[in-house]
Amino acid sequence: MEKKTILVTGANGQLGNELRLLGPRYPQFKFDFIDIQELDLCQPRAVSDYFETLRPDYLINCAAYTAVDKAESDVALCWRVNRDAVEHLAKSASICGCRCLHVSTDYVFDGKGLGRPYLETDPTGPVSVYGQSKLAGEEALLKYCPDAVILRTAWLYSPFGNNFVKTMLRLGKAGSALRVVNDQLGTPTYAADLAVALMTVILSAEEGKYAPGIYHFTDEGSCTWYEFTREIHCQAGLSVQVTPVTTAEYPTAAVRPAYSILDKTKIKMTYGLTIPDWKDSLSQCLKRIDY
Ligand SMILES: NC(=O)c1ccc[n+]([C@@H]2O[C@H](COP(=O)([O-])OP(=O)(O)OC[C@H]3O[C@@H](n4cnc5c(N)ncnc54)[C@H](OP(=O)(O)O)[C@@H]3O)[C@@H](O)[C@H]2O)c1
Repeated sequence: MEKKTILVTGANGQLGNELRLLGPRYPQFKFDFIDIQELDLCQPRAVSDYFETLRPDYLINCAAYTAVDKAESDVALCWRVNRDAVEHLAKSASICGCRCLHVSTDYVFDGKGLGRPYLETDPTGPVSVYGQSKLAGEEALLKYCPDAVILRTAWLYSPFGNNFVKTMLRLGKAGSALRVVNDQLGTPTYAADLAVALMTVILSAEEGKYAPGIYHFTDEGSCTWYEFTREIHCQAGLSVQVTPVTTAEYPTAAVRPAYSILDKTKIKMTYGLTIPDWKDSLSQCLKRIDY
């Protein structure tokens, strides 16, 4: 029997690269890893042609415009990638009968908090261009592919690309004193853990246990950016002076949610996932980074 095909878009990003590494563990599938060099997802005709030729069974869309601050002044491109491109993918996928797995963000919430971690059913209210465009992407996807799976994640890091962990290692090594925000609460998430979660959804689908919908997925636990920084430096054996500051003392172009802890009960119950604690995953990631 011919192998089923998984199309991974945004394959040169953090999550896409983790899926590339994971691919060989699933020899029952044929993977097609592509990024903007192979296919610009903002070109609807090119997207539909690609789907018609490949006819993938699954799509894992890791492509996104992820520069949260830059998005505030680069609004049009951010929306083209995070909303319009998702719509193009969704239209093509629905024509081919391809199942869509998509990744969204904790930034769809306003971060004012409800006194408990956010549920998938809680009202959204993004406070940044990035968050608004990602929410619009969720809606565009569900319009054409109502049986899609969307995993909302947060504070992603990996050995690939630029991320908070790598920045803090670089600054820590440079030895300069740092000021880091201590009043935003969330959960650092190792992209490798998210990649496993996405593959778990596909394996369940293959066993006839596919359950569409929006799910929250981060690593376990929570911290502030300041606490995250301290843990990175502690685990890396770097001695750095880090001062906790408030968001007001560290202005950025984009407003970020003060509270963005996500409740993961739904994905754990539905897909039987065991999720590692963020500190354990951080140590796994640090083993893979040359700092
Ligand atoms: N990073 C986080 O902290 C975070 C937090 C919550 C949720 N998420 C979500 O998690 C997912 C994965 O994030 P990530 O950190 O792995 O992202 P990433 O590293 O920024 O990778 C995204 C990839 O998409 C590509 N891309 C951009 N525009 C494209 C286009 N028009 N056509 C095709 N490819 C395009 C990018 O290429 P270029 O680099 O050339 O632009 C990049 O390779 C995204 O949906 C993101 O919104 C991320």
